[in-house]
Order: sequence, then C-alpha cells, then structure tokens
Amino acid sequence: MRRCGLDDNGPIRIAPSILDADFGRLGEQLALLKSAGADMIHLDIMDGHFVPNLSIGVPIVASVRIYTKLTVDAHLMIEDPLKYAEPFVKAGADLITFHAEVAKKPAEIVEHIRSLGAKVGVSINPGTEATAVYDFLPEVDLVLVMTVWPGFGGQKFISECVPKITALAERMRPDQLLQVDGGINAETARTVVSAGANTLVAGKAIIGAPDPEQALHDIRKAAEAALAART
Ligand code: DX5
Ligand code: ZN
Repeated sequence: MRRCGLDDNGPIRIAPSILDADFGRLGEQLALLKSAGADMIHLDIMDGHFVPNLSIGVPIVASVRIYTKLTVDAHLMIEDPLKYAEPFVKAGADLITFHAEVAKKPAEIVEHIRSLGAKVGVSINPGTEATAVYDFLPEVDLVLVMTVWPGFGGQKFISECVPKITALAERMRPDQLLQVDGGINAETARTVVSAGANTLVAGKAIIGAPDPEQALHDIRKAAEAALAART
C-alpha cells in the first residue's frame, strides 16, 4: 500500500489547503509547504451541488501526487462519494473524507473507501450535530469538524462549532485524527486545540500569507502551546 504519513507525524498535524493556491505554480507551492513543515496537503474537492462552488478534480489530485510525498488528504464536498472515491484514490489520495450529510448508509461508504486501500474520514457541517457520527465513530481514521460552511476559503471561523470538538474528543481514540477546517489561524488554532483537535486545516492563513513558512510556524506554535496547556 502507498505510504500514508498519518502514523508518523507529531501530536499536532498541520494540513494546508491549496484551494487558494496559484495552480500555475503548483509544484513550487507544494515544495514550499513541505519545507514550511506541512504534515499533509488538504485538497478541497467540490461538485457544485453539495456546495455552491467547483474546485479541484481528479487530474489536479494526480498532479499533486507527482509533486509531493506528503499525505494527500482529499476532503470530498460532493453528493456522491461512493461514485467518486475510487478515481480520487487511484489519482493518489491517501485519505478520503466524505460528508455525513450525504451519507444514507455511512458504514457502506466507510467500508468502500477502506476497500480501496485509503484511510477514511467523515466530516460534519456547522449545522450538523456531532451525534451524527457516533454510530460509526470507531470505524473511521479521522473526523473533520467544519468551522465554516464549506464552499469557499477565507471565511470567518464559527465559534459555535467548538463544543462539538470537545464532545468528539471525549469519544475518540488517541490514534484517530480530530481535524478542524475553516477560518483557522494562530488564534483559532489555540481555541480548537484547547477543545481537543489534533489536526488543523488552514488555507488563506498559510498560502495567502506573505510568508507561508512563518504563518505555518505560528499556527503550529500556537497549537502546541494549547496542547501543552491541555495535558
Ligand atoms: C472550505 C474548505 C476549507 C477551506 C479552508 O470549503 O473545506 O478547507 O479552503 O480555507 P480557510 O482556511 O481559508 O478558511
Ligand atoms: Zn476542506
């Protein structure tokens, strides 16, 4: 099976989103994120139905795979993950996260993604309760709590989502990733790690920063300080 860095990173994982990257300089931007210390590359896949936007498709995932050895974390904001998980895994995604809101039979989706040889995540929108994933929580590698309504980068962090992070952290094993996505910067990183998150997605705050390396470093420092205060 392809390497998947989920098991060999530190206590806090930073997953920069390339949604707002300059795709004409994809290789260069991925190299920059690697040297800045990124643990994973977060790919925001949108179908124009589940969210009101279109973004990265299978060919871009394949290009990302060529230019990075980091874990490729595909966040599927799409209505039919059962249909499209396979092409994304074949293109090189290591981890496939689907949305609980589209899953009539989540266990079936989890099993399908796992059968493709990928790690499995499930995501909840700001309007979805944490309880939506409790039934199959032990079966997933990652839970993604959205702290903005998905669809666009650069939105404001919704602090009302934080209690869901706390509730999930109490129920998850230490080997599972509790990821937070949307409006993450050094300040909100502190808030969500204090609540129990261990994996942070950041788009605008890293790739949109004048110095992405410094921005990633600042987020990690804030997150690690919050983690130290928690333990
Ligand atoms: C939103 C995406 C996020 C987003 C993060 O639909 O899932 O990954 O790009 O971007 P920022 O960090 O700018 O909110
Ligand atoms: Zn995302």
